[in-house]
Amino acid sequence: MSTPLPRVYADHAATSAPKAPGVVDALVRFSTGLGATPGRGAYAEAREAGEVVMRCRRRLRDWIGAQGPSEQVIFGLNCSDALNLGLKGILHAKAAKRHAITTAFDHNSVLRPLHELREIGLAEFTVVACDPQTGLLDPREIEKAIRPDTGLVAINHVSNVTGVVQPIAEIGRMTRAAGIPYLVDAAQSLGHVAVNVEESCIDLLAAPGHKGLLGPQGTGFLWIRPGVEQRMRTLREGGTGTQSEAAVQPDFLPDRFEPGSVNALGIAGLEAAMAWLEAETQAKLTAHEDAICQQFLSGLRLLPEFTLYGSWEAGNRVSTFCIRHPRFQNPHDLSKALEALGILTRSGHHCAPLAHQALGTAPLGGATRLSFGAATTEDEVERCLAGLWEVTQ
Ligand SMILES: Cc1ncc(COP(=O)(O)O)c(C=O)c1O
Repeated sequence: MSTPLPRVYADHAATSAPKAPGVVDALVRFSTGLGATPGRGAYAEAREAGEVVMRCRRRLRDWIGAQGPSEQVIFGLNCSDALNLGLKGILHAKAAKRHAITTAFDHNSVLRPLHELREIGLAEFTVVACDPQTGLLDPREIEKAIRPDTGLVAINHVSNVTGVVQPIAEIGRMTRAAGIPYLVDAAQSLGHVAVNVEESCIDLLAAPGHKGLLGPQGTGFLWIRPGVEQRMRTLREGGTGTQSEAAVQPDFLPDRFEPGSVNALGIAGLEAAMAWLEAETQAKLTAHEDAICQQFLSGLRLLPEFTLYGSWEAGNRVSTFCIRHPRFQNPHDLSKALEALGILTRSGHHCAPLAHQALGTAPLGGATRLSFGAATTEDEVERCLAGLWEVTQ
């Protein structure tokens, strides 16, 4: 009997696997050599752990093209955590304008905090529609939704359903002119496409460390434009190892928004991933992303019974593909059939219920998503295409 081929991981939009070269070594090095809590002791290990965390902040700041201190990078648990801080921090602040704008292609990690704020009477929000085939947002829709009491525009950079890249710079110029804080959910873009918070006039950028940045799970961050923190409230308070005699949270960053011990182990892994990404360069990662898109789309064209939800053009998208086939009414059955061939995908509503409503897939149980990443090889994409053909024979 021949040795089974290794499984093909096609769920990079959920989390990347494998992680960047150097990540596992960094985790082992940190656990066995340091282990200390950054900023909580004067001994060498604690100081060195603090250095690792600061190095990671600097790398993240540089990766997103931000100017100003790296302390504006606030570590959290994941992207949802960072989004909660951005959304609630702004909308909950004293004298804040309480109306927010988001889109139908945004994730539950934006929609649910907004629902909660509305439920407790702290905010209202408008959801603007996007193109029902691709999910592309027309910036004029945001402009039309702006009200005198609009205090935040929150949109995702890349849809986790259709993979479309939104025109974030155009929207940023508009929100900057209107003086409205602008939060971008970069969960599906960092590591896949270039992000520059200065060029795109972004005020708050939330991202996971564990998806396109190829770091460990349990990492994420919110970057806050210098000065914007003055318009924010804390979400959580607690010990910071600084100003311990004070009854209230320190007013400087990152301590103001980072109570408790950070996930130093995970951050050490993310720091190693960032070092690898920097050496690899965004240009190379983007070229790889484009090549995968071209290859998958060309192959899918030869399987005309599949419906693709999203653009057939390789430009302006990442390698995240939602599909359906008439043979598989329940998209989970397609995932199961693919898994039997060693191909790992994700079916359902992908935490984006309004996106699936707009695409018409919500009453059908959603769609099946294949999503690729930096580690995906040409051969793996070929195996996915062959698998799609095989399960429909
Ligand atoms: C667009 C988008 N935003 C936010 C999130 C939440 O990310 P995390 O799992 O790191 O909380 C995801 C996760 O899939 C996502 O796709």
